[in-house]
Amino acid sequence: MTSPASQPVQGMSDLGPPEIAAWQKIEEKARQVLSLYHFSEVRTPVLEHTSVFTRSLGDTTDVVQKEMYTFEDRGRRSLTLRPEGTAGVMRYVAGQGAEALDARLYYLGPMFRCERPQAGRKRQFHQLGVEALGAPSAAADVEVIALQQHIFSSWGLRNCRVEVNTRGTPEDRKTVSEGLVNALRPHADKLCEDCRRRLETNVLRVLDCKNPDCGKVVDQLPPVTSFMSEVSRKYLDEVMRLLAMLNIPAKLNPRLVRGLDYYVHTVWEVRHPGLGAQDAISGGGRYRIDIGGKAIDGVGFAVGLERVLAALEHDKPEGLRAASNPVAWIISMGEKAMEENLVLAQTLRLRGIQCGLDLAGRSMKAQMREANRSQAAYAIIRGDREMEAGVLVLKNMVDGGQEELELPALIEKLVGASRGEVAKT
Ligand code: HAM
Repeated sequence: MTSPASQPVQGMSDLGPPEIAAWQKIEEKARQVLSLYHFSEVRTPVLEHTSVFTRSLGDTTDVVQKEMYTFEDRGRRSLTLRPEGTAGVMRYVAGQGAEALDARLYYLGPMFRCERPQAGRKRQFHQLGVEALGAPSAAADVEVIALQQHIFSSWGLRNCRVEVNTRGTPEDRKTVSEGLVNALRPHADKLCEDCRRRLETNVLRVLDCKNPDCGKVVDQLPPVTSFMSEVSRKYLDEVMRLLAMLNIPAKLNPRLVRGLDYYVHTVWEVRHPGLGAQDAISGGGRYRIDIGGKAIDGVGFAVGLERVLAALEHDKPEGLRAASNPVAWIISMGEKAMEENLVLAQTLRLRGIQCGLDLAGRSMKAQMREANRSQAAYAIIRGDREMEAGVLVLKNMVDGGQEELELPALIEKLVGASRGEVAKT
């Protein structure tokens, strides 16, 4: 029986050797695509002053009200484990010179939200986030959506659906919320308890309420863009036109809101039909974040990597699951041979050849089993007899053939094999 002492905190997971190869592959592929678009990595702390999040994500958002891991440190400062990456990156940018205001940054790492754990919803999860700073421009928004789609296709993700909407300009906010409240108030009795409260606090969230009765009321409302300025409507039209020009299929979803308050103009979400209720693999949009009186404009998105891996399980593209196997597994018979083999392993590794060996003095049979399990292309066998003769036995694990080689010839052969040259014994 597993003891609780060996379990991580609820809603958090270890990532061990069986699954880590796929994580490393998607990270590597994403980095390659990001460099094509001229983005650089930034690493900010996982722990921030709580105000970094309260002032930018919005006081009434679920993330701030219910989901943050917030505590006082020993100096009685309120600190929070980051629930998302944008706010911390903006804090970083605000501390840099003016030239950082058009930075193109990305980050990869754990985020923390104390939500009720369920399939696809963790308390520690990982995001790949992208932030492109700069003044509002429909073309800049579309470039970032194109980058997101490029990353998805590099992973072999198919079947993703991009949904787009607008939050309008900051100046639109008042007319939008007044317009929605006026339109909803006559139907307040048909709304759920949460939405009746949202009428007073954050009326936009009524639009994406999952309750079917609220959905029926929302379906009767005029589109949210009708409460916005001409500028905002034109901006959205421009985004949709440019997406079509780049052949990026995207659907307008007038009920898409996004759960964070920093958004202006374009917002989007990407859903994958292979996932259950938590089907958003990415969310993003244009934002304006005020830090110490300085307004920072940008556009970005964050991809939930756990959900991407679940979606990849569904789409099953080639090549993501393959872990890299050792070229050789070194088997020692006797203590002297084991010492010599430790030297040999170091020599091979310094030549860039991936290999493994047993250093616990296990039996030949156990070592052979390990060689098989490692899926190494070759086994190298050395005991007293080989030591005396100055040779090593090289066994091809695929066809079973074996030969005796002196050290330089053995190394040459393995160098060739690790470069992918076909070597027959
Ligand atoms: P978000 O929509 O809150 O946006 O999160 C982005 C993605 O993170 C979601 O689409 C989902 O895939 C994943 N995610 C969120 N919560 C969880 C969870 N509890 N468990 C597993 N995965 C989760 C943001 O965080 C914004 N900072 C995105 C952004 C960047 N907007 C502009 N720039």
